[in-house]
Amino acid sequence: MSINIAIDGPAGAGKSTIAKLVAKKLGFVYVDTGAMYRAMGIYFMKKGISPDDEASIGKACGDVDISIVYEDGVQQVFLNRENVTGLLRTEDAGKMASAVSGYLSVREKLVELQQKLAASENVVMDGRDIGTVVLPKADLKVYLTASVETRAKRRFLELTEKGIPCNIKEIEKDIEERDYRDMHRENSPLRRAEDAVYLDSSDMDINQVAEEILEKLKSKE
Ligand code: C5P
Repeated sequence: MSINIAIDGPAGAGKSTIAKLVAKKLGFVYVDTGAMYRAMGIYFMKKGISPDDEASIGKACGDVDISIVYEDGVQQVFLNRENVTGLLRTEDAGKMASAVSGYLSVREKLVELQQKLAASENVVMDGRDIGTVVLPKADLKVYLTASVETRAKRRFLELTEKGIPCNIKEIEKDIEERDYRDMHRENSPLRRAEDAVYLDSSDMDINQVAEEILEKLKSKE
């Protein structure tokens, strides 16, 4: 049986950085589920389908193939056999992902893929519904959050480092809107699973959070 760690939380809480580090320390595979929703979002954008058009999105879900391959331990996302990994981290892809991730047709397709991956490998998987829906029997569940101000500041620094012009107030507003949508949607809203460990990373550095997660896993053994 594979070992599964689920990490959920709002946008910009540091889930992917932490999940990657924990996976590396344990020799597990890191599965970024947000990237799959982003790839779906890109597909609908390419086809010119509006995020409000649920019927067309449902139909398009039947034609799209999302697959995951690991190259040197790094997740690569293929959209209809094209590697789109480099296109996923833009603000537009994030917004489109958030706008379409409420539809059952989109979720069902991706949850199946995520469950298959977790059944065959030891994984650290991050997202919004991993502990509640995708892996309800995960060996360890973590709900990782941080204040909106901290999350906006981290995002601002990340974009500024890349030379991308941005405004911290706008980032804060985007984060709040995305959280609201993700927490209030009908299907698989973001919420802490009852048995998830709650971690607020506002005043913790990456290594402290990773150590805390590894300790919790140890105490479960
Ligand atoms: O984590 P990331 O910012 O890449 O996720 C993009 C969007 O995909 C989220 O805002 C959320 O709407 C959606 N998502 C989801 N369920 C997941 C992972 C991501 O609904 N398990």
